[in-house]
Amino acid sequence: MKKTLLSLAALTLLASGAQARTWEAIKQSGTIKIATEGAFPPFNILKGKQLTGFEVELAEALAKQLGLKVQWVTQPFDNLLIGLQQDRYDFVIASHGITPERAKAVDFANPHYCTGGAIVSKVGGPKTAADLKGKTVAVQVGTTYLENVRKVAGVKDVKTFPKDTDAQAALMAGRVDAWVGDKFTGLDLVKAQKGKLVAGDLLFSERIGMAVKKGNAGLLKELNAALAKAMSNGTYAKLSTKYFGTDVRCK
Ligand code: ARG
Repeated sequence: MKKTLLSLAALTLLASGAQARTWEAIKQSGTIKIATEGAFPPFNILKGKQLTGFEVELAEALAKQLGLKVQWVTQPFDNLLIGLQQDRYDFVIASHGITPERAKAVDFANPHYCTGGAIVSKVGGPKTAADLKGKTVAVQVGTTYLENVRKVAGVKDVKTFPKDTDAQAALMAGRVDAWVGDKFTGLDLVKAQKGKLVAGDLLFSERIGMAVKKGNAGLLKELNAALAKAMSNGTYAKLSTKYFGTDVRCK
């Protein structure tokens, strides 16, 4: 947590520094560089050498609409916004919740889905915020799950993991009492573990957005326009149904 807060604070300080690629430069090059984690199913996941998931397919659809080829970059979640600052890619799509703190460091596009942080535990385990009292909880580092679990009174210990899937594994191995993560991921997890896990309450809700370097207004405008188009021409609905069986756009 401390490390994450520090790096975000440093990022805010740097936010007025070097130049990001402008929309014109991106368009002229013909290729947009997009970063994600590749370890956050069903949103962004590396399957063998193939990057896929709802956000990967959505970003590719947006790039296509913008007439651009895609060059993907994968980074650990906690490094993604920092790499944006260092101009290593043009935008990030990795399920970042739009928070006031992050919005000081980067600019967010309009949300591409709405979700929440949910509690999952083994059958008989904690299901509500009140149940978490005296319990140990696993979360991915640098996430809004960590931030929000810390606000729950009486939690005994919050264990952080570099990857969300590692936090899930800790729950399965019985090393923690609960996992807090995305509610859609949680549903998939409960389903995959047939009868062993239960989905508990939502701890909080969040709007998820793509991030561009602070001040890159030209690119932001194009991304928002492409997203709006995907949302109105059926592209978004099709992808959302494929991955979630429902439309996950913010209402
Ligand atoms: N929605 C959460 C957040 O904003 C988790 C995002 C995790 N994304 C990932 N690619 N692992 O912090």
